[in-house]
Amino acid sequence: MWATQKRKRVMTSTAKPLTSEDDDASLIEIDDAEATPEDVGSPENGAHSEFESDSGMGVSMAIRTRRTIRRWTDRPVAPEVVKELLECALWAPSACNMQLWDFVVITDKATRDALAPAVPHADKAQVCIFICYNTRFSQGSYANIQSASAAVMNMLLRAHSLGLGGFWQATITDRLLLREILRLPRDVEVLSTTLFGYPAESPGAPARRDPSHLVHWEKYDLTRKPVLPSAWRPTNWTLAQVADYHQARIRAGPRYNKPVASEYRAVRGYLGHALRRAGVNASGKVVVDLLPCTGLYLEAMSNEVPEASFQFVELGRQVAEFVQRRLPRPATFHQYAMTATGGASSDIADASSDAATLVFRLENLPTAERRRLLAEARRILKPGGTLVVVHTNVRSYFEVFRAIRWLIGRRDVQYALHTDPSLGPFEALSNDEVSDLLVESGFRIEHRHGAFPLPPPDEAKHRVRALPRAVAPLAGPLGRLYELTAPLHRFLRPFARVRFITAVK
Ligand SMILES: Cc1cc2nc3c(=O)[nH]c(=O)nc-3n(C[C@H](O)[C@H](O)[C@H](O)COP(=O)(O)O)c2cc1C
Repeated sequence: MWATQKRKRVMTSTAKPLTSEDDDASLIEIDDAEATPEDVGSPENGAHSEFESDSGMGVSMAIRTRRTIRRWTDRPVAPEVVKELLECALWAPSACNMQLWDFVVITDKATRDALAPAVPHADKAQVCIFICYNTRFSQGSYANIQSASAAVMNMLLRAHSLGLGGFWQATITDRLLLREILRLPRDVEVLSTTLFGYPAESPGAPARRDPSHLVHWEKYDLTRKPVLPSAWRPTNWTLAQVADYHQARIRAGPRYNKPVASEYRAVRGYLGHALRRAGVNASGKVVVDLLPCTGLYLEAMSNEVPEASFQFVELGRQVAEFVQRRLPRPATFHQYAMTATGGASSDIADASSDAATLVFRLENLPTAERRRLLAEARRILKPGGTLVVVHTNVRSYFEVFRAIRWLIGRRDVQYALHTDPSLGPFEALSNDEVSDLLVESGFRIEHRHGAFPLPPPDEAKHRVRALPRAVAPLAGPLGRLYELTAPLHRFLRPFARVRFITAVK
């Protein structure tokens, strides 16, 4: 045990002490002697390690101030500190106290560099700790996952109290490579990846949900909670549930709400082009983005057509604030206020806007709400005003990939598709369906366009990654096929994954 070894005091963090009682709160004591990983002993009788009192951070404070850290300084983490994290992990509860976990600790720079293609950020963190479990133990009851999670949490909190920043990362981009580098035996699986180092960032606290939305007392109370359906078809969702899900989605921040670069370029390009064609690139012109959600494309449009004045209609205040924070210039938010019968409208005056945009949002809505939203678009547009709709085409490879994912058991709502268009409920629509909806809502179709009859190279890589490992080598040829067939793409537009429609009131 390290407690018996000689110690010296060192700074663990440049961060301010978190308690007022102890000026030396950022100091811990570490061993003078060179320690090796083998020195990690099993804790005896719950004895406290010598680190226990050093930071002075209470449990409640540690829980509330811990943040996920994804950028670290080059400062190495002393072996004693790493061992302290591991010892705290061992003190976590485990099913039947069997502690059937293994910890693979990687600190060597060359190994971390080699790991980076399999585990993002592994090369940047000073320490990577993988908790592994024998696949034959306690899988049925998820006790393996629960035990490993408890160990992770102990490490994250302890790391934070020592001035380190931890990152619990579910993303593993190449499990095979990871297994190879860790030399995992055949029946051992990595259950969690945590990365540690001294923080080079101090992110703010991402919002937490209101407990009144998610805590049920004494019984699961379906009548009072906006419980979200676990089904991806929007027909199963109400507008209030869509609003709640959109709020959950933006809580993770813009990092999770990015499409692949090719899609972003294509959509941004079309929106800019269509808005300029509609003549709104002049001061005094008003463009309303309907349900921007992450605000990604509203931000893009504000940059593409800086002369226009942008406004937006959203379902909830938290989402609106998120959108506003990313915009280059302020845009007025209008609440899309829901009525008891499920309809909604905003306070924008009739016939007051020159253009409106609706980007990957019809797919999120139940059919009746699609009509209501288009009616709202028509109401706020001036006669001759332009509506630009971007949607995912059901008659495209999109549906093929969705079907494959469905067949292999990847039926989760959240990750059904790529991030920005896939906010919860999502149903790709046919060109005819959208055109009919527009015509029925009183619009005249002026222009149609399509992009990506085949997945471009970056999307091919992304989509194949979500499939079983055996098909991973297909990403390259699929991307090349897109490039080789480029001259034919204009003939294949009806089957393009992303469809664009410009309609006029
Ligand atoms: C099981 C689990 C897996 C996670 N995986 C990732 C990940 O792959 N990438 C990432 O950037 N963040 C990941 N996170 C971090 C979360 O995004 C983060 O905890 C959340 O945004 C709340 O922020 P906070 O930890 O600073 O409070 C993961 C968190 C957990 C608990």
